[in-house]
Amino acid sequence: MDRERVVVLTGAGVSAESGLRTFRDGDGLWEEHRVEDVATPEAWERDPELVLRFYDQRRAQVIAAGPNAAHTAIARLETAHEVDVVTQNIDDLHERAGSTRVMHLHGEILLARSTADPRLITPVNGPTLRLGDRCALGSQLRPHIVWFGEAVPLIAEAAALVARADRLIIVGTSLQVYPAAGLVHALPPGRPIHLIDPSDVPLRSASVEHIKQKASIGMPMLASRLLGEA
Ligand code: APR
Repeated sequence: MDRERVVVLTGAGVSAESGLRTFRDGDGLWEEHRVEDVATPEAWERDPELVLRFYDQRRAQVIAAGPNAAHTAIARLETAHEVDVVTQNIDDLHERAGSTRVMHLHGEILLARSTADPRLITPVNGPTLRLGDRCALGSQLRPHIVWFGEAVPLIAEAAALVARADRLIIVGTSLQVYPAAGLVHALPPGRPIHLIDPSDVPLRSASVEHIKQKASIGMPMLASRLLGEA
């Protein structure tokens, strides 16, 4: 079996069965908050304590969660293929499952960054980040998260990975948030796309195979096939 370059684009659905809530499956609220109250630069300006408390809760949930069979199957692909995971998720479940190349488009909940210099990134020590926690320059630390209305610094790098891929696997994303959703179009025409999602997702292309299953079922099935086992 030829070694292929595979990009796996993941969203909240890949972590749903680890107990982490998706964004758009429920009532339009994200863990009882409107997104604009907790995940925008304006929210941070208005009420940084609320924003920090909200992300502290997300961090605690991530620390308590563990990878599921979908994360593990994605990691297993590396035994036979060159795999890059491009995730919209801020959790570290791909890394904990064993994936070695993981790009976090929307940031990482276990990291904080300086409000003075975005290049100053530091681990959050423990489950909380507080007002008064400062970077080396003396400025307040904020969650290392890409908020709504902010640029996605890694998008060009991610598009370059997709443009070189032999195959694209998309797991558990509604493809409603740009620029991440546009990455699909960087794949050269005709290369296979596998979409694993129990719902309909707006993605029309002749080369899409929609595996209409939960990630923990669909991803191990697809991995077995791509590893020549099934
Ligand atoms: N297995 C696979 N897919 C699932 C599962 C599951 N068990 N459960 C739900 N899904 C699917 C849903 O059908 C939906 O298509 O996961 C998708 C989740 O979509 P969203 O909630 O919109 O999450 P996502 O696409 O990751 O959101 C993108 O939006 O709020 C921002 O920055 C945030 O990264 C996030 C971005």
